[in-house]
Amino acid sequence: MSPIGRRGFMVLCGAVVLAGARVRAQQQGNRPPGTHQDNTDGKEWIRRLERSDRIPGLKIDDVISCLNLKPGDVVADIGAGTGAYTIPFAKAVAPLGLALAVDIWPELIEYVGEKAAAAHVGNVQPLLASRDDPRLPPRGVDVAFFHDVFHNVNDRQAYLRLLVTYLKPGGRIAIIEQEFDDPIAQKWDIPEDRITREQLQDWMANVGFELRSVFDIFQGANNPPGAGMPARWFVVYSARPAPRPSLVID
Ligand SMILES: C[S@@+](CC[C@H](N)C(=O)[O-])C[C@H]1O[C@@H](n2cnc3c(N)ncnc32)[C@H](O)[C@@H]1O
Repeated sequence: MSPIGRRGFMVLCGAVVLAGARVRAQQQGNRPPGTHQDNTDGKEWIRRLERSDRIPGLKIDDVISCLNLKPGDVVADIGAGTGAYTIPFAKAVAPLGLALAVDIWPELIEYVGEKAAAAHVGNVQPLLASRDDPRLPPRGVDVAFFHDVFHNVNDRQAYLRLLVTYLKPGGRIAIIEQEFDDPIAQKWDIPEDRITREQLQDWMANVGFELRSVFDIFQGANNPPGAGMPARWFVVYSARPAPRPSLVID
């Protein structure tokens, strides 16, 4: 698709998604069903995610550099929230790359669309997902990224089985999650809603994915003090290479 055709297509898709999202938001009282944010108003959740003291704790530039995002990449920010990462991702992959702002909360993806437009960032595409399906373009994504989101998924194994079908060959899955025993994480979520690196390793192995990188930018003294964020692990996975055919000698 030519850059102009692609941009037009994106704008059209965004408009359709947001129109549907608005209707659903009205039907749902602005809340996605069944999340632990059920009792929080959308505006209040936006305010919490955009807190100025939270943003340094996201280490956005460091994350972009760890992910080695390149112009032309398609990156899906799954559970994008207010798009704190999405918009910088979009700038990192511009002009022909795309950042997909994926969330189950219509009010939030609408907010990200508005924020991107106000910042004149044209390569952000809001996408309304369901809890079990990020609804990405099949075989269309270079990097699927989750920050403080993956623990919200109910059936993590089934979700990963589906997610890998949305990746391009060589595509990567990057996950940043709270340390299971971190005191802040314990305050935020009950044990069933937190996950460990070991659990993730098993789920990834079951879909044929291998650990490629581990970054410690959210660990110990690297975790910005005062940001009110728990220590977090940051891992990147991609598909295990297919075994080479063995040579048979008679
Ligand atoms: C704690 S916020 C993190 C937002 C953003 N990643 C950040 O760090 O600024 C979690 C977000 O994940 C979204 N979410 C929860 N479950 C989800 C799911 N199954 N699929 C996609 N998004 C989900 C929520 O609506 C919310 O916007």
